[in-house]
This record gives sequence, structure tokens and C-alpha cells, in this order.
Amino acid sequence: MEMDTGDTTDVIVVGCGIIGASVAWQLARRGAVVRCLDPHPGDGSTYAAAGMLAAVTETTFGEHELMRLNLEAAAMWPDFATQLEAETGQPCGLRRTGTLTLAFDGDDRQQLRRLHQLHVEWGLDAREITTDAARQMEPTLGPRLAAAIWAPGDHQVDPRSAQKALLTALMARKVDIIERAVERVLPGTAVTGPSRPGVVDTNGQVHRADLVVVAAGWNSRLLAPGCPTRPVKGQVARLDARAVPTFQLTRVVRGLVQDRPVYLVPRADGEIVVGGTSEEQPDNRQVTAGGAFALLRDARALVPGIDELPVTELTARARPGSPDNLPLIGDAGPPGIVLATGHYRNGVLLAPLTAAAVAARWADGKLPDSVSAAHPARFHPTHDHEHFAVP
Ligand code: GLY
Repeated sequence: MEMDTGDTTDVIVVGCGIIGASVAWQLARRGAVVRCLDPHPGDGSTYAAAGMLAAVTETTFGEHELMRLNLEAAAMWPDFATQLEAETGQPCGLRRTGTLTLAFDGDDRQQLRRLHQLHVEWGLDAREITTDAARQMEPTLGPRLAAAIWAPGDHQVDPRSAQKALLTALMARKVDIIERAVERVLPGTAVTGPSRPGVVDTNGQVHRADLVVVAAGWNSRLLAPGCPTRPVKGQVARLDARAVPTFQLTRVVRGLVQDRPVYLVPRADGEIVVGGTSEEQPDNRQVTAGGAFALLRDARALVPGIDELPVTELTARARPGSPDNLPLIGDAGPPGIVLATGHYRNGVLLAPLTAAAVAARWADGKLPDSVSAAHPARFHPTHDHEHFAVP
């Protein structure tokens, strides 16, 4: 039997990974009484993410709107990190390293230059440098490289550190974090009583609020009707460079190795995150022999010195994919339900932008124009944005 707790909560956030936690934090900063529900906060794609703030180097053909969102989000990260660190005294691991993108062979060079041409046409800050110049920047790069592009503004954060800081900030701001899954989302229009929006958790408890934000990664599709998220599995290896003092890697290094993308993200503490496969597979969290082998083989083609490093972790999680690779930020259709999901390869990067947009949706009653390309109504052509607004 469902029990109504007679909540005085303003906003319920379903999912407390880096998106849900950022949304909850920004809502709390704007004065909302917030409750988050998540059985394992931060154990989804946030746990696997390398944390590249790759507004330039993730930009590809046909994704001009996503590029715009990514650039805006990248510009927000320094303040976001500064505020979070000031509130909690905990680091987010923001490192202003820039990113080198490498081509392994001649075919990869052709591909990379084609993409670079697009970046130049779109006015992005990236320039081709010689492979010798790349090697001067990062002496551990391998001997066989065909081309290099330098993107000085693509930095990184440590998603696990940022998540930890966010949870600390939420607790300090008295956000209620309930470690339970949500079974059902209840649309509603009323401001009091049983027709208020809400959720039912796995204990059958009903939680009510003025607004329910679904930030449950690819699982959002199971909670919000018509939410077109899907799991895109990524496998990631973590290496420990502290074990080999002669190994040096400072900047994010990514590249194409015989057409396969790979990246190495060096943390300040010596951890190297190697990622990431993109597989249209269920979220089974299984690292496969083939996945791990391919990652490490391609990473060592660019940075052979990783051969000596201990492998400390192999992780598999699923990103929340969307049909057009743009996130879903805005009213979901059923009244009182807002989506903050579908961030695919850019969840960490887009967290501050998404959080600010959802907080504005609650505080000002509307989303900022800057995120209109991410409105879920684009997948419901018979509706316009007006129909999706909560009355
Ligand atoms: N942003 C990198 C990835 O999703 O693998």
C-alpha cells in the first residue's frame, strides 16, 4: 500500500550522479528544499567517467548545437569548481591541461585532419602541430605518430572527486538523500495533496514535491514515458603512474588508432584513466577481455610507456545516449516532470549548465533560451514547447 508522507519538499531529484547531484546543489543554492533518491549515488556513468571537458575534441559532424552547449558548459566549470571547493573544502580535480589529439597512421591522419577542418570552420581553438612539437610537450609519446592537434582549452576534472564534493555540499545544505530506487514517477499539477507531482520508491513510499527532476541516466526512459534514453556501454581502465617515477604524462592525450578512438587522462595524483569503448550494449557492467585488450593496445600505441604501469581498476558502465546525442533538459510532457538526462559522452562537462538550467526552471518558471536545443519536446513533433510547460 502506498503511504503519502505529506512532504513539504519543493523538488525531488531522481538520480544522484553528477547530473542529479549538480542539479540538487544548484536548486538548494537557490533556496529550494530538495530531496534526492538514488540507491547508489555516483555509481553509474559518473563512476566510470574520465572527466574530459572536451568541448572542442568531442565536437563532430552534425553536432553544432551540442558544440554550443559544450562550450558554454566548459566556460562554467571554473566557477562551478571554485564554488564547490569553497563550500566543501574538497577538490574537484579541475586540471587545466589542454588536450593533444594524435593520429596513429596515415588513414587516421586523414580522418583527424577532416575533423580538424570542421573545428577550424566552426571557430574552435585547435591547431595542428608537428609530431615533434607534440613529443616536446609529452616526451612519453610513441615513435609512430602521423599527426597531432593541440586543443589548449580542453581540460579535465576528476568526476569521483567532484561527486564526493557535491554530496558533501548537499549534506551541508540539508538536502535529503534517500538511498532507494524510484519505481514510478507521478505527474501532477496540484500544489498540495495527492495530485502533486511525486515518485513512488521501492518501499512503496510516496514522495511529493512541486517538481520532479528525472536525472537517472539511461534508466530515465524506464521512469518518464517517451524519454528516449538508451545505454551506451563504455569500458575504462585505470593505471597507476606513481609506481613508475620515470613515466610522465601531463596533458590529456587522445587519438585515433586505426580508426578506433582512445584517450588517456592523467590525474594530478598519478592515476591515468584510459577510455573508452562505445558499445550499443546493455548496462551489464561487465568488462570484457576484448574491450580491455583493445583499450590498452590502442593506448600503448600512442603512449608505449603505459606498459610498465600497474592496472588498478577495470570498470564498465553505460552512458545515457539520446537519439541525436544532445541531452534532454526540460519538461518531459506529463505535468510536473522535468528531464535532465541523455548527456551521452558529455555528462561531466554539461553538469554545471544542466544544473543552472533546471534551477532556473524551478526558480523562474522557465528554462534559459541557451538550452532550448536540448528540450525534450523535439522528440514529440505534435507538441510545441508551450504544451510541455508545467502550468
Ligand atoms: N567523454 C568520453 C566518453 O564518454 O567516453
